[in-house]
Amino acid sequence: MMELNNSLRGRDFISIHDFTPEEITYMLQVGAEIKKLQKRGIPHHYLAGKTLGMIFQKASTRTRVAFEVGMYQLGGNALFLSPRDIQLGRGETIKDTALVLSRMLDGIMIRTFDHDEVLELAKWASIPIINGLTDLLHPTQVIGDMMTIAEHKGELKGLTLAFIGDGNNVAHELLFGGAKVGMNVVIACPPGFEPDATVLAQAQADAKATGAKLWVVEDPAEAVKGADAVYTDVWASMGQEDQAAEKEQQFLRYQVNAQLMSLAAKDAIVLHCLPAKRGKEITDQVMDGPQSVVFDEAENRLHAHKAIMALTM
Ligand code: CP
Ligand code: NVA
Repeated sequence: MMELNNSLRGRDFISIHDFTPEEITYMLQVGAEIKKLQKRGIPHHYLAGKTLGMIFQKASTRTRVAFEVGMYQLGGNALFLSPRDIQLGRGETIKDTALVLSRMLDGIMIRTFDHDEVLELAKWASIPIINGLTDLLHPTQVIGDMMTIAEHKGELKGLTLAFIGDGNNVAHELLFGGAKVGMNVVIACPPGFEPDATVLAQAQADAKATGAKLWVVEDPAEAVKGADAVYTDVWASMGQEDQAAEKEQQFLRYQVNAQLMSLAAKDAIVLHCLPAKRGKEITDQVMDGPQSVVFDEAENRLHAHKAIMALTM
């Protein structure tokens, strides 16, 4: 079992933006090492005796299973805290929840709507808070994504990733991630669905240190031209169910299909954070095709989240 550097112990993991390029690179390295240990059946109980609480205000398959199984594989325990069951759902404040849970747990993963709730939880908790997705950001996803891209493409610095679709939480975090590792990120989205201007500006400021280019276009064909990785996500995120039908019309040009892929680099890989709406933002042919790495990407959530927990908790 490799010795872990203690420098991130006690830190919250709320956005990749909060970490230095060196810290993100280290996290990715630890993820890759932990993956090797797991594949070789070598125990790696970095968190023996520790407990993670997992608050989910939205649905989840990958994030929940990755954190819960990851915690067991690290020698600790994980508790699933549904809003239907805990008092937060009945109006107990985030502050009080944070103060109480800090007395019993060693870390909290939270998935919720309003990003400010995660910041509020982190403000009052004395244990690390991990952002398992908000309407604004999805940082644990992007650590797994960058691990996946590095596995398939080698060095991240200098690669170009094209994100096609809604300028959403995943797009935002890809901008932050690309900025920290020197990977160029171009987002193609319909007018009115561009990424948040503040996030883009912050990511562009971060990118000065690594030379990553980050930009937004309207034309998906222009974005994928020469891209090394093509990424898409659902057009209507969790919480936008009432907009789904309208968005399907607005995003028709933004489907990742064989025709669009023919414009990307020949050896381009295809990513999707999942869950996918097959036949909408991505076709079956592309998702099940030879360029797709979406299931490697899903698996890497496990290894990446173990690294995040092992380093911060
Ligand atoms: N990609 C992702 O976060 O999946 P879940 O919503 O299933 O956790
Ligand atoms: N943008 C999607 C990602 C799901 C993992 C959502 O927020 O629903």
